[in-house]
Amino acid sequence: MVEISRGLEDVLIKTTSLTFIDGHHGVLRYRGYDINDLVEHSSYEELIYLMLYGELPNRKQLNEVKAKLNENYEVPEQVINAIYSLPRNCDAIGIMESAFGIMASVYNPKWDKEKDRDNAIQIIAKTATVVANVFRAKEGLKPKMPSPSQSYAKSFLEASFDRKVGEKEIKAMDAALILYTDHEVPASTTAGLVASSTFSDMYSCIVAALAALKGPLHGGAAEEAFKQFVEIGSPDKVDEWFKINIVEGRKRLMGFGHRVYKTYDPRAKIFKKLAQQLSQENPEIKKYLEIAERLEKLGIETFGSKGIYPNTDFYSGIVFNGLGFPIYMYTALFALSRTLGWLAHFIEYVEEQHRLIRPRALYVGPEYKHYVPVDKR
Ligand code: CMC
Repeated sequence: MVEISRGLEDVLIKTTSLTFIDGHHGVLRYRGYDINDLVEHSSYEELIYLMLYGELPNRKQLNEVKAKLNENYEVPEQVINAIYSLPRNCDAIGIMESAFGIMASVYNPKWDKEKDRDNAIQIIAKTATVVANVFRAKEGLKPKMPSPSQSYAKSFLEASFDRKVGEKEIKAMDAALILYTDHEVPASTTAGLVASSTFSDMYSCIVAALAALKGPLHGGAAEEAFKQFVEIGSPDKVDEWFKINIVEGRKRLMGFGHRVYKTYDPRAKIFKKLAQQLSQENPEIKKYLEIAERLEKLGIETFGSKGIYPNTDFYSGIVFNGLGFPIYMYTALFALSRTLGWLAHFIEYVEEQHRLIRPRALYVGPEYKHYVPVDKR
């Protein structure tokens, strides 16, 4: 009996030196560094170097990354035109797919060991411009380019909003970028890897990854998790909502459960702390946090014994909301960060272990049938 690996569960499709996950002890490391240490001491720019080049950068290397980001925020005029010509109710990831599709046509970079990492940094810079302008277009604002700065998070937030952005917000955005950077080979990375295995260009590989990220079982979960908090409305309604929807209604608790983590997702712990910090000055955030904390308690009481705990998307929406982003942007913000992880995996695969990804399907359909012309059927 041939076994089909449904969902490719536990199938190893590549080796990686990028991300280590211990799903039973709730550990996540990028190139050996624990995410708790990275969030506390590092920055997204350091992480760009770490993921693409393998080591933390020295001061000169870090400055070079920052300079390359600052030089590359510009995107083709057609990208801005496309983003602002679409109706405001268009889906944010759909708009990103269009923007990356246009850049794939305009730039169409070829794989080249000498240039891949530079190209990746250029793409990361342009992603900030795309995501900020997806938000601005959907809000009915005018186009705005990120300004050069010492911090990618700062340039991105300042391009998104027409207000001064505080240090606490920049730190929270930077932490969110670090937390979502990479997670080995989930659906989106795998979709992009399939595209990269045909030597499709990096921008097109990102379109493939975006398409897989969008679904509610993957990147879309942060939006769905936060919608639950909004629907519940206040902390005293959590118990009733949980009973009706989750216990009796048998709906999935969004932001809970993970294919790899069978314990508390380490990223969720940090997102929760960030949400707690942002809630101190924001009563709306405080309310959502209280709802989420009560929901978490009920969720763990009900599902904890099955290894179903809060995942990264449970609290991240509260952080994004605290930064001023509406729900429809959460998956796009996930993508903003994950672009680095995607690119690092594509480069690792294409440069070190390339083989066309071409699995097989087991045919279980009918045997040979005679063709019957349409009028005789
Ligand atoms: N709420 C209630 N029950 C759940 C949940 C949940 N969130 N997640 C899993 N289960 C149950 C499921 O009903 C099933 O029960 P039974 O064995 O009685 O039929 C059992 O757990 C196994 O579920 P599964 O879907 O086969 O397990 P999986 O490994 O495919 O689950 C998952 C992974 C993420 C698809 C699932 O946990 C889920 O749907 N979670 C909600 C959506 C979500 O938060 N997704 C974000 C994932 S983390 C971020 C990312 O990687 O993008």
